[in-house]
Amino acid sequence: MTQQRAQFATRLGVIATTVGSAVGLGNIWRFPFEAGVHGGGAFLLIDLFFIFIIGVPVVCAEFIIGRHTGLNVRGAFRKLAPGRPWGIVGYLGLLASILILSFYSVVAGWTLEYIWQSLNSFGGVTSVEGLHGQFDSFATSDWRPAMWTIVFLAINYLILARGVQKGIEKMSNIMMPLLFVILVVFCINSLRMPAAAEGLTFLFKPDFSQVTPSVMLGAMGQAFFSLSLGLGCLITYSSYFKKETPLLRTAGIMAWLDTMVAILAGVIIFPAVFTFGMEPAAGPKLVFEILPSIFMHMPGSMMWSVLFFILLFLASLSSTISMSEITIAYMTDEYGFSRRRATAYNIGVAMLLGSVCALSFGSLSGWTVCGLTVFNLFDYVSSNIILPVGGMIISIFVGWVLDRTVVTSELMTPGSGVKPWMVKAVVICLRYIAPTCIGLVFVCGLGLW
Ligand code: PHE
Repeated sequence: MTQQRAQFATRLGVIATTVGSAVGLGNIWRFPFEAGVHGGGAFLLIDLFFIFIIGVPVVCAEFIIGRHTGLNVRGAFRKLAPGRPWGIVGYLGLLASILILSFYSVVAGWTLEYIWQSLNSFGGVTSVEGLHGQFDSFATSDWRPAMWTIVFLAINYLILARGVQKGIEKMSNIMMPLLFVILVVFCINSLRMPAAAEGLTFLFKPDFSQVTPSVMLGAMGQAFFSLSLGLGCLITYSSYFKKETPLLRTAGIMAWLDTMVAILAGVIIFPAVFTFGMEPAAGPKLVFEILPSIFMHMPGSMMWSVLFFILLFLASLSSTISMSEITIAYMTDEYGFSRRRATAYNIGVAMLLGSVCALSFGSLSGWTVCGLTVFNLFDYVSSNIILPVGGMIISIFVGWVLDRTVVTSELMTPGSGVKPWMVKAVVICLRYIAPTCIGLVFVCGLGLW
């Protein structure tokens, strides 16, 4: 067991690290490509529903569990419901965290390749077709993507082994605001493109004929993935919160900023997609093909490109650090591992699985389960299945099982400004709305009904 648990030092630190976990490739890479595949506006609308109506209360539920117990995901449930099966969330969370860390590191590795490529001016290639071809030949080759995945994970190791406060907090404080500013600059650039109107219509005009159960499942998975929700990441982080941290406000700010970044990314990408005559449903490669083409058409292209990919890399890093923290807190709290050793195991497994994911665009592309490559399978199973199931169990637990006085006292800390009706609204959502909506989307989206 822990002696003195580490805490985030400042209020800004709490926001920056939580937002740092939420904001990452999920917003800038995954949101645009999922929205592209699932028809744009309608996907965005359902995503927003899941973020604000279901997501914010479930984020609060994770915060309540984490801060109240001050423990890792497994230990928290053991303390709150000893001998009962709720702790299954803990195991699901550990599984999801390693699956996500593995495929996520591949894409984060792509950002490293692109920093390198930007420094080399993309080998002098300037045409849109040439840039697209370049991405394809890189991603489908073997050793470079795998190498970058491993380099990325090694960087994670170096930061994680230094500990919570020093490593994570400092980096997030500087990086998050900078990312925001640069996204706004790119947005303005995209809004001046010839097909801006077409892109914005695609992103914001919901076409309800496109809404199918699988679109709903995809949007629910995106909302959970983007909020880092349902796998105990926020339980772990909130175990480092101070007693005064206002949970509801922190959840609200996090959801809001997270959504803003995803929408900004959409506004950057889709006008360019239509301007350059690309297919919005291109899948995971969409963003990596489009971005260099955008930069090429800006004055000072190389500088923008380098800056952007460095920031994207840092945003990914603050997300993967939060994923790893789930397993590291578990291994150090429960089994007394040293932080260094726990980190080494976690990163070691991710390097192995991550390399397989990296190769699944190249020589292992034939390894498929239900038509999904290893990379896609890890993404689908974790985002669309484990995270919503975890979120559902967490919301039922806090809504029905956890003592109401704990919920109230955690949400209504002095100075938080939370009124009794707000607590009631959160509880109603956790008891009825969240479990019903998640259950329904599941049953329909997975074709069980
Ligand atoms: N929310 C992160 C992103 O959008 C990904 C993430 C998922 C981080 C799960 C932690 C846990 O990039």
